[in-house]
This record gives sequence, C-alpha cells and structure tokens, in this order.
Amino acid sequence: MVKIPKKHLQERLFELYFNKVEEENMNILDILDKKEKQETLTKEELKFVVDGYLNGTIKDYQMSAFLTEIDLLGLSDEETINLTDIMLNSGEILNLNIDSVVDKHSTGGVGDKTTIALAPLVASLGVKVAKMSGRGLGHTGGTIDKLESITGFQTSMSLENFKNQVNEIGIALVGQMGNLVPADKKIYALRDVTGTVDSIPLIASSIMSKKLASGASTIVIDLKVGDGALVNNIDEAKQLANLMVKIGKNNHKKTVCVLTNMEEPLGYAVGNSIEVIEAINTLKGEGPDDLTQLIIKLGTLMVANGLDLPENIAEEKIRENLYNGKGYQKMIEWISAQGGDIRKISLARHTKKVTSDQDGYISSISALKIGKLSRKLGAGRLNKDDKIDLTVGIVLNHKVGDYVHKGDTLATIFYNEKTITNEEILSCFTFSKDEVEKPNLIIDIIK
Ligand code: URA
Repeated sequence: MVKIPKKHLQERLFELYFNKVEEENMNILDILDKKEKQETLTKEELKFVVDGYLNGTIKDYQMSAFLTEIDLLGLSDEETINLTDIMLNSGEILNLNIDSVVDKHSTGGVGDKTTIALAPLVASLGVKVAKMSGRGLGHTGGTIDKLESITGFQTSMSLENFKNQVNEIGIALVGQMGNLVPADKKIYALRDVTGTVDSIPLIASSIMSKKLASGASTIVIDLKVGDGALVNNIDEAKQLANLMVKIGKNNHKKTVCVLTNMEEPLGYAVGNSIEVIEAINTLKGEGPDDLTQLIIKLGTLMVANGLDLPENIAEEKIRENLYNGKGYQKMIEWISAQGGDIRKISLARHTKKVTSDQDGYISSISALKIGKLSRKLGAGRLNKDDKIDLTVGIVLNHKVGDYVHKGDTLATIFYNEKTITNEEILSCFTFSKDEVEKPNLIIDIIK
C-alpha cells in the first residue's frame, strides 16, 4: 500500500472538501448566465458541465444551450485548453510505450485518400505510425471504409496486437479503439443536431482531445479549407490551426497544421475502392500531382519531427522512398499484416462516361457537390449506421485549370443499383474562356 504523509493527507482532504462545497454551489443555470455575460468560466465550471452531461445530471436541452452560447460567443484560449483537458480525461488515455509515435489527422475532405499512401511511406523511413482512423459521414469519406474495400483487411485488433505490429513493422492502422474521450462522442452527437459543429473552440477541443488520447508524441494535422471542408474560410482555418497548435504545445506534443485546398476534390478518384487504387498508384510514383505534393509535404513534416531531422533532409528521404519502391513495399507489408490483399479490390459492375458540353478552361469542380453525388451512388452515409457500397464512386478526368474540348470525358461514374445523371455531374463544373491558374494546394503551415 502507498503511504501518504499525514500532512499531504490533510491537504488532500481539505482540497476534496472545498471542491465538493464549490461543486455543490454550482449549477448549470448560473454557468449559462455567466457565459451569457461573457465572463470567463473556470476549469471547475467547465468540468461541472462536461461531467454533468456525461452522467446525465445535465440534460440535452441545457447542454444545447451551453454549446450554442459557445458557438455564438466563443471561448478564450485558456478556456479551450481547459475544456480539451477535461474531455481528454473523460476516458482512457492510450499508453503505447513506444518512443516517438507520429500521428496524422485530416479534418475531412472529398477524395482524401492521403493516409493510405502517406502512413506506409513515412513508416518505410523508420517513423512509427500507430493510427486510429474514422469512417465517412456526410459528403466526406473515411479511411477505415476505404481500407475495408481491400479483401481481407482487418480494421480492428487488440491493443496488444496493435502495439506488437507497430513495434515489428512500424505501422498499424485501425478504427477507434478503447473508451477514448467519451465526452466528445456524446457532445459531438449533440453538436451534429444543434448546428454547433462549426464552432472553432469546439472543433479544436474535439480534435485535440482525441489526438492527445491516442498516445502520439507528434501530431500533423491536414486542415482542409474550402467548399468541401468543415472550414470554408482561410481566416477561420488559421484561427483553428493556431488554437490546435497551442493546445498541442500545452500538452508537450509537437503539433503542426498544414492548411490545404479543398475547393476541388483531392486527386481524381472519389469513392472507396477507387481511392485505394489511386493511393496504391501514388506509391508506385504514378499518383496525381496534388496528392503527390501533399504526401511529400505532410511526409516531410512527419519525418522531420518524428526523427528530429532538418526538413530538407526529411524531404529528400521522402522523395527517395516515394520513387524507389520502398514506400510501396511497406504498404504491401502493412496491408498483408492486417490480412489484406491489394490484388483483390472490387469495382462496381457498371461504368458510364460524362462528356463536356463545351470548350473551355475548367474554373471550378465543386468538392462538396462531387462528395454528395458520390454519396448518392452509395459510397457514403447520411446516418452513422447506413450501409455503404465500397465499389462505387466518381473518377474525374481533369482538374481545375485544364482545358477541355466539347465531347472530352470529364468523369467516369462507377455504379451498381443507384446511379446519377450526366447533368448532375456537369453541374459540379464551371468553365471559363480565359486561362485559369491552377490553385495552390498548400495554403499555409502553422507550427
Ligand atoms: N472532427 C472532429 O473530430 N471534431 C470536430 O468537431 C470536427 C471535426
């Protein structure tokens, strides 16, 4: 038994007593009132709300009022840091017992298959990747769904096997594991139906509490900005990035945010199995320019931070393993370690081409609309429990800035039972007679 010195015991009892008295004096109405007056909430008050919501003493309607106040009035950085800490400690915190694990997170986009190529590429250079990913919801896809389109690939395993695989081959990627951040699970579900998903401090605390709970020492975040992303506006994206970096630093984790363009889909493929094929081709050195550029940038930051190398050396190494086949070899090793066979990826039974009805430069391809059409084909979910078709989707033939002639193929639709019309695809494109500059993929890097 651990002996607690008498003096410490008295101090601890005093502390517990006063906290209890303070808690007994707290109530949700006073906290709502205080927030409405824009006074700063203490950590104890925030904890009172989060714990109360988790244990049911604070009701959905009271929590909705609280989240709406935050959405309208914001939180100070200190309040956000405290809220993150309270959420982080609401459940298990993984202790991987592995040195220097690097995590990568995307805030979600259309055609975002980055992790599937990036994770094995950095692992091929000795960076440990122990990653948990999510499923798709709404118009954005999820890495776990995409990986399940590889026959045999297992997206769950015990924590022990997860750690063993990371130690043995340097990479493991599974769905959510353990009881990490239950507060976020419950609060996020309520945010989703109360129009409070887009609050910057709520997004920052939600993402960072989950990243901190999953045990990595370096966190690289791909913060998507644009019509197909959670954040549409660059100023708000910068604010969110600065806040997440500050929360990371406060928790002694190296945190880097890369702001990237999500006005048009990433790469050409949008779906599940077709995105995996594009990710595989990228590690064979045959990927789309934008996806390849993103993997080089994120990979450089993961390797530089994970292995403590200058960025120029990290970038050289990433480029080397992208083009010498070592990244691809690591991908095969990883996928077969999790039971998958990359030769067995199914595609939809039917395809149809959509051709351009005009000549001109492509001036936009709405990521949001393409994401919604892919969902309409069955590739995505409207509700968490919807079943999806992993084989369907849309493969674009062009990117913004390309010139097309009337009759050129703009996209190919991969479909089974559900289909979409050519007009629906055409409505995602706009054209210009004047030359259109290709947009910059990397908007900013905040660290
Ligand atoms: N992703 C999250 O995990 N949380 C948010 O609040 C938004 C996006």
